[in-house]
Amino acid sequence: ANGLKTGLFGKKIVYFEKVDSTNTVAKRLADQGADEGTIVVAEEQTGGRGRLDRSFISPFAQGIWFSLILRPTFPPMEVSKLTLVAAVALTKVLRRAGLIHCGIKWPNDILVGDKKLVGILTELNASVEKINYVVMGIGINTALGKKALPRELKKTVTSFAIENVPVQRVELLQDVLRELERYYDVAGEQGFAPILEEWKVLSCMLGRDVEVSASDRSFTGKAVTLDENGNLMVETANGMERVLAGDVRVRPV
Ligand code: BTN
Repeated sequence: ANGLKTGLFGKKIVYFEKVDSTNTVAKRLADQGADEGTIVVAEEQTGGRGRLDRSFISPFAQGIWFSLILRPTFPPMEVSKLTLVAAVALTKVLRRAGLIHCGIKWPNDILVGDKKLVGILTELNASVEKINYVVMGIGINTALGKKALPRELKKTVTSFAIENVPVQRVELLQDVLRELERYYDVAGEQGFAPILEEWKVLSCMLGRDVEVSASDRSFTGKAVTLDENGNLMVETANGMERVLAGDVRVRPV
């Protein structure tokens, strides 16, 4: 009925012209018992949020800003892998849509060259042993123009429009939801291992020198692989470092 060729994801759509953050709304709906697969979409976010307390620019009709409610049955520890799964699904779709050179920056950005095209913000509501829900917020810059970007972001952010690749937002969202659902099902049935292998192939980071900065330490090294939990393995002068998602920035040097 909604034109989406998915089973569960996007079966229920909550749409806003303008909202503070689709993640905030989705969390509220999930608290009230919204079904898995419900999505919250907005034309514009006035308080779009990113990782590490950063804001996320989301002007009217210039991108796809949405949040997906999930109720996975795997343990809370596995949630960071879910973000890697989403990045794989998204990268597949975006390459098919014509951004053939996009790749994944660990843990959860999709870049074209060194510029960010997609951000993913995964928020978890769980007890120690059980996930209550996950809200996966995804922002894809489609028509976003340089004009909408503050000066400091002009060199680090991109969009379909900036890359001169035409795109239809509705079709792209349909494709994204379909692929997200497909990969989510694979993870549920076969576990994360095969998807982490795909992540390595689609990453634009492995083999590159990176600078890692967390609140308590920072170092440089070469990103070599992912471990089985989706942590980034960085080879430094003092040996191998395991980088856990969370309060960490990784940037290519
Ligand atoms: C990041 O860049 O660190 C993640 C950005 C995530 C942005 C999306 S847009 C839809 C959803 N609502 C938000 O407030 N954030 C996410």
